Amino acid sequence: MEISKRTKGLGTETAFEALAEVNKRVREGKDVISFCIGQPDFDTPRNIKEAAIRAINEGKTGYTDSAGVFAVRESVARHFSLTRKIDVKPEHVAIANGAKPFIAYAIACTTDPGVGDEVIYPNPGFPIYESQIIANGAAPVPLPLSEKKGFSFEIDELRARISKRTKMLIINSPHNPTGGIIRLEDLEEVAKLAKTHDFWVYSDEVYRPLTYDREFASIASLPGMYERTIICDGASKGYAMTGWRLGYAANPTLGPYFARWITNTESCANHMSQYALMEALDGPQEESRKMVDSFHERRDLTVKLLNEIEGVKCLMPGGAFYVFPNVTAACKKLGVADSEELRKLLLENGVAVLADKHFGRRNPGDNEQHIRLSYATAKDKIIEGVARIKRVVEGGA
Ligand SMILES: Cc1ncc(COP(=O)(O)O)c(C=O)c1O
Repeated sequence: MEISKRTKGLGTETAFEALAEVNKRVREGKDVISFCIGQPDFDTPRNIKEAAIRAINEGKTGYTDSAGVFAVRESVARHFSLTRKIDVKPEHVAIANGAKPFIAYAIACTTDPGVGDEVIYPNPGFPIYESQIIANGAAPVPLPLSEKKGFSFEIDELRARISKRTKMLIINSPHNPTGGIIRLEDLEEVAKLAKTHDFWVYSDEVYRPLTYDREFASIASLPGMYERTIICDGASKGYAMTGWRLGYAANPTLGPYFARWITNTESCANHMSQYALMEALDGPQEESRKMVDSFHERRDLTVKLLNEIEGVKCLMPGGAFYVFPNVTAACKKLGVADSEELRKLLLENGVAVLADKHFGRRNPGDNEQHIRLSYATAKDKIIEGVARIKRVVEGGA
């Protein structure tokens, strides 16, 4: 029996393979400090858990509308309207089991398979963008990010990739894996290009609450942009709810089509989790704010410690809970071929990170080496973990 080429070629988050390696070492009793996991190390706030328990006890256990419980969509619409300063109606909103499914739905809603429709996406970036573009039969067009620009992209690089076949541009700010932010001036340029060349923008805003040094800016807030922007956000990162599987998206035209896709795939988002989401958005924000403050502090600590290592250069990222230090000099110094070899060496020495290759193919002409650390881990682990990196890179490990 044959398996389709589409399935055999399906991409993945190769980070999970690195993670399996780490877990194996831990099972073998080895001492490993891990900077691999892209999820908050906090428990979900108590009030949110209680809302879900209440929902279960009240019998909120059946299917819901595919777009989501209307009252929860009202909450999401209010939240989007307030935080993005636009008028989002509940009818524009769909709720799914995580933000991730919307990547595929948006690509399916804006491209047709096999006809050369193109989607531009950030590279390095969340690997599911590329894999879903290909799985949906569209053509992936990677947009290089520039370290010089704080891991945003050069507008000219974007301009050079736009063609008559461009259907959608994916942007992600704050960004995984670099923590980079797209500045408002650049969003304004992107908006002009989107209008001139008539393409959609998928704005992946799952790290919005984790924006540290400036106010978060959404491209959907710019004049005339909400119509052509799919805003996607989720409860995973800002409310420590990765396992609850809750994501939400809005667009005035595509909202109902997302619901149609959900009918075809998930039926609806988990019913009781939707009530937890309503509490997360409408309830007290103190716990969430405390988490953000803690990530902010840990970001500063991680960057400071990494920059004390000879051969490591780490930019101060504006958001998310990742740093993406440049380790080109460290690789040279140690005589290792690239960041993947460095990753393996670090793992042997008790510290787990991810390499840039886990976040996309290398951009042509780019010989710089990077690793990703998630600092969603305790401060003492950050101190000891980075000390281990220092010992390996500076010798004497
Ligand atoms: C950029 C980006 N988008 C989307 C997601 C998916 O989040 P969710 O847990 O809501 O599916 C992630 C998760 O790591 C992410 O990093």
